[in-house]
Amino acid sequence: MKNKIIAIIQCRLNSRRLPNKAILKLNKVPVIIRMLNRVKKSKLINEIWVATGISKENDKLCKLLLKKNIRTFRGDDNNVLSRFMDIASKTKAKYIVRLTADCPLVDASIIDKAITSITKYKLDYVSNILKRTYPDGLDVEVFSRNTLKKTFENVTDDYSKEHVTTYMHGLHKKKYKKGQFKKFNIENAINFSHMRWTLDEEKDFHFINDIFCNLKNDFFWEDVLEYLTKYPEKLIRNNMIGTGLKANKVNKKKKAFLKSNKLFKRAINTVPLASQTFSKSYTMWPKGNSPLFFDRGHGARVVDPDGNHYIDYILGLLPITLGYCDPDVDNAVIQQIMKGTIFSLPSTLEMKLSELLVSIIPSAEMVRFGKNGSDATTAAIRLARAFTNRDLIAVAGYHGWHDWYIGSSSRNLGVPKSVEKLTKKFTFNDAESLKYLLSKYHNKFACVILEPSGLIDADKSFLKSVRELCNKHKVVLIFDEVISGFRINLGGAQKKYNVIPDLSCFGKGMANGYPISAIVGKRKIMKIMKEIFFSTTFGGETLSITAALTTIKKLKRLNIVEKNINYGKLLSERLNKIINASKLKNYIEISKVYWWPRIILKDIPITEDLAVSLLRQEFIEQGLFLGSTFNICYAHTKNNILKLTTESFHRSIENLSVKLLSKNPKIYLKGDTIEKTFKVR
Ligand SMILES: Cc1ncc(COP(=O)(O)O)c(C=O)c1O
Repeated sequence: MKNKIIAIIQCRLNSRRLPNKAILKLNKVPVIIRMLNRVKKSKLINEIWVATGISKENDKLCKLLLKKNIRTFRGDDNNVLSRFMDIASKTKAKYIVRLTADCPLVDASIIDKAITSITKYKLDYVSNILKRTYPDGLDVEVFSRNTLKKTFENVTDDYSKEHVTTYMHGLHKKKYKKGQFKKFNIENAINFSHMRWTLDEEKDFHFINDIFCNLKNDFFWEDVLEYLTKYPEKLIRNNMIGTGLKANKVNKKKKAFLKSNKLFKRAINTVPLASQTFSKSYTMWPKGNSPLFFDRGHGARVVDPDGNHYIDYILGLLPITLGYCDPDVDNAVIQQIMKGTIFSLPSTLEMKLSELLVSIIPSAEMVRFGKNGSDATTAAIRLARAFTNRDLIAVAGYHGWHDWYIGSSSRNLGVPKSVEKLTKKFTFNDAESLKYLLSKYHNKFACVILEPSGLIDADKSFLKSVRELCNKHKVVLIFDEVISGFRINLGGAQKKYNVIPDLSCFGKGMANGYPISAIVGKRKIMKIMKEIFFSTTFGGETLSITAALTTIKKLKRLNIVEKNINYGKLLSERLNKIINASKLKNYIEISKVYWWPRIILKDIPITEDLAVSLLRQEFIEQGLFLGSTFNICYAHTKNNILKLTTESFHRSIENLSVKLLSKNPKIYLKGDTIEKTFKVR
């Protein structure tokens, strides 16, 4: 045959991550046979070969292939290139299609497209991997025997011998030799390269098995796409970040931040602070020796642009209560996307979420939505002022970025003095300090706003006294539960302490990372919403409302708030044990506020900024993305995360014992010292 075209599927059974993967059964049929059946649908391939290694581990595979009468070639275990060369010479093939057994979903239509291009235009190498647009796992490469011969003659390094086409595609040109070939890339009109359809780990196997169980034989890759559009959670689950073991292994390598640092230089040109939030900005991290961006998150883990993995204890500043990419929430949101994200009249979802909040939050009789915590607190202040016809506000805690609050902090640049003067501070857990304010400015206060529980446990008698003082002075009591909501108790701190405010604000944790906040409260005050102006285009946006409905129902159904608090308790106990057995026992402690444990530094003999910088740098090195608090989500309670955290923390404390207590701790800081924004807690 003059223009003979053969396909070679390279295959081995000794894969480290998923041993024997080629003979695992996908809906009762071994992976390799499934793949062969799919390749056989090609109209242009004349012969199909399976190439495997000579070592004993592959005997089982060869026995199966022999039984099924499949052309099999065994050659050098590591020099896969030589296997290809031998088959090509033996078969006198003009063109060779290279496939790998980790692509059981490979599609004959894509193979034939690649073959048509190489033969029609007399090219040397055609593939769909030069610029990826197909899902990962549909990889096809076609090359001429001449290209293979040139590669075989020029390649000397082991990597290129194992990865047959390294010299042809030249994608690693800085590391390995690259040939001069006429190349072409097969592209799909829509980019699906973010999808992972390859068979590499156990979770991939479950994903692909499900496809073979649910689609009729002879399906095309477009049928898989259609199936995943119907069941998007399957794809979400499969995109998870590696297993605990893998992440742990990565942790042992010294981390590099080249991409983060390069991206930062670019971002700072167009984004002041290179971040939308002070607390997420470079000022909080030892810049230079720290990640400055994240690419993706799944469960309790995140990955930075340099590929470093971390267990995340910041969780986007607390909105994540279930875990990144929770399949239930994301699936519900995807279904809603297909119905519409926003309308010109309210959607009935607003009413459904309001009813749900009224059923679980003691003070909630009516509800309105915003996007940020600051929207909710600012709306509450306006309502209180309208209700009482007074101007002054008493605050204890952090309540957002608007003038009325931030004017009372040291970050008050840009806030008129006249506004600043209207906000007065009192001390948390000290009812006398509030009593003093309310008496000093008699009949002037519209409201008292406070975080009813935070890094320090609330004293129940304090909350009761605040309630009584507000009643006595006819002042609106507002609980800012933006953090405590859905974390301390499903009904907030008001439910836990049984002290009922007039208005309360929720945000962060209510929708597992989707932007929504809520102001809830007594009917007689909430009704004034009709008179004041709290009105915003995206207040009723359906995706976040859907996310909130799904998140809250899941929190309730699986009793997750309690599970997260129990995790916080276990974690604090284990970490305190590690600290107490170390030289740092007099300097560091984990607080016993179990729903939100924090790291307390005591009498440390260096400046707090340097100590915090060294701590953060060390935690990052050990694979923990951890600030001053342990922000906990449901995903932490699973998959060995407690054990991995404890081990990483142990290594951190061992290293910090040397660094913090040395004569010159500063020499250990490889990045910049952190800069504090301001301190309210
Ligand atoms: C207690 C509290 N209230 C209000 C806010 C403001 O919320 P947002 O940043 O979503 O506007 C925050 C944010 O950290 C908060 O912690």
